[in-house]
Amino acid sequence: MSNTKESWGSRVGLILAMAGNAVGLGNFLRFPVQAVQNGGGAFILPYLICFLLMGIPLLFIEWSVGRYGGKLGNHSTPYILDSMSKKPYWKYIGVFGIFTNIAVVAYYTYIESWTFLYVFHSIFGTFTGMGKEEISSFFDNYVNLTSSDLGIPLLPVVVYILVLAINVYILSTGLGGIEKVAKIGMPLLIFFGIVLAYRGWTMGADYASDAFPDANAWDGINFLWTPQYSSLADPKVWLAAAGQIFFTLSVGMGSIQCYASYMRENEDIALNSVTAGFTNELVEVLLGSAIVIPIAAGFLGLDWVLENAGFGMAFQTMPYLFQQWGAVFGVVAGVCWFGLLFFAGITSSLAMGTPWMGFMHDEFGWGKVKGAVSFGLIALAMGLPTVLFYQYGYFDEYDYWGGTVSLVIFALLETILFAWVFGMEKGWAEITRGADIRIPGAYKWIMKYVTPVLLLLVFIGALFTPEGNNWAGAISALFDGQLYTLDPGSLISKISHGDIKAQMLLNPE
Ligand code: PHE
Ligand code: NA
Repeated sequence: MSNTKESWGSRVGLILAMAGNAVGLGNFLRFPVQAVQNGGGAFILPYLICFLLMGIPLLFIEWSVGRYGGKLGNHSTPYILDSMSKKPYWKYIGVFGIFTNIAVVAYYTYIESWTFLYVFHSIFGTFTGMGKEEISSFFDNYVNLTSSDLGIPLLPVVVYILVLAINVYILSTGLGGIEKVAKIGMPLLIFFGIVLAYRGWTMGADYASDAFPDANAWDGINFLWTPQYSSLADPKVWLAAAGQIFFTLSVGMGSIQCYASYMRENEDIALNSVTAGFTNELVEVLLGSAIVIPIAAGFLGLDWVLENAGFGMAFQTMPYLFQQWGAVFGVVAGVCWFGLLFFAGITSSLAMGTPWMGFMHDEFGWGKVKGAVSFGLIALAMGLPTVLFYQYGYFDEYDYWGGTVSLVIFALLETILFAWVFGMEKGWAEITRGADIRIPGAYKWIMKYVTPVLLLLVFIGALFTPEGNNWAGAISALFDGQLYTLDPGSLISKISHGDIKAQMLLNPE
């Protein structure tokens, strides 16, 4: 490894780059869907608890692990984790931190390419005069490659490659380029978000049509924010909440460590990491929850939203609803929405590129250009299947294995390494060195015990989810020595591709 001392240009640059890393499509597309699918207000409490007990500790851990590695000249999790223990296997565990990013970036940049194209569709008024069904099938035809949009064959592939190339170009300019994109993209994104969220918060029932007389934007907001305590006993909701917290904060991916490895040795971690983390949460809970759901509820009613919550809302429903605001504001809203998504996406996909580049640098001494181009090629090779075979669901497979499962495993192992192998005393000293605020001492204890235990529970829960998420039934079946079936979505069933019947012979007679 060479000792080119590259580092962030300024504190503002570092915070914006880290916030840009975290604030992404997850905030605006994934969060609202997860929240609705998990019962709205029922989702919020586990979500907030996961933020405080797993999210924040993992931010502290990953920032300090990264800064520690950078001091030794390492910029990728295989090398950084290796330097924290004498055992050889941590290096291989660090490879998760590379793999995950590549798997996620493969479909993430594809969504990013939709947002990019839809900015232009909004500007040029492609959707003007189209009906709801037409706008919806326009998207279906696009992703299923069944239309020859603009007369260009395989347009989705072309736009995908173009967006990847933009990422590669920016990455090849190094930290400076990433910082610049964050400095432009983040304020714009927040501005666009506020414009749209303002509509969401103030829409009320103004636009309810005859077909949806009960439509009211506030129903959506109330549904999301009325806490329901019963959900605290539902492990499925906890799993979804933990998964969303990890995904949205970009933890368990090796990308925060990589960014932090370019910090200076005594640069503050405590305040910077919390600032970036809270920025992400503010954008998620204030803006992310105030756009798609309330606007859709305001036009189509909450019942419609509950039945149709999904990815399509962003690309199929929103452009239709914007039309109802009239020609001018319709275009403005479309540009705000897809522009916001594009900036949120690109500042995050850049962050997913850097771990690979860091690894190539640590392993082979590759420079920025070689690192960026090789990243582009590998992302393309991984991503093309999701583009060409969208209808076969590759997309969800990547999101599940890359964006959900490996995050939890990696975060668990990393917490054990940090708190138990490297040692909590040394770890605490790393976190607090140069700190501009005092972190409550309780966090030392949380990081050592609470975070790893919660992570383990989440992992075990995902492994053995019983059918219908009926834990009480499964547990009583266990004690009665009866068979019970695992949920087809549980990890074990997924790995074995089958229905798994489980039984524990606690009661052999
Ligand atoms: N946190 C990003 C989002 O919310 C996703 C991401 C994951 C970014 C991993 C970088 C690394 O969309
Ligand atoms: Na996020």
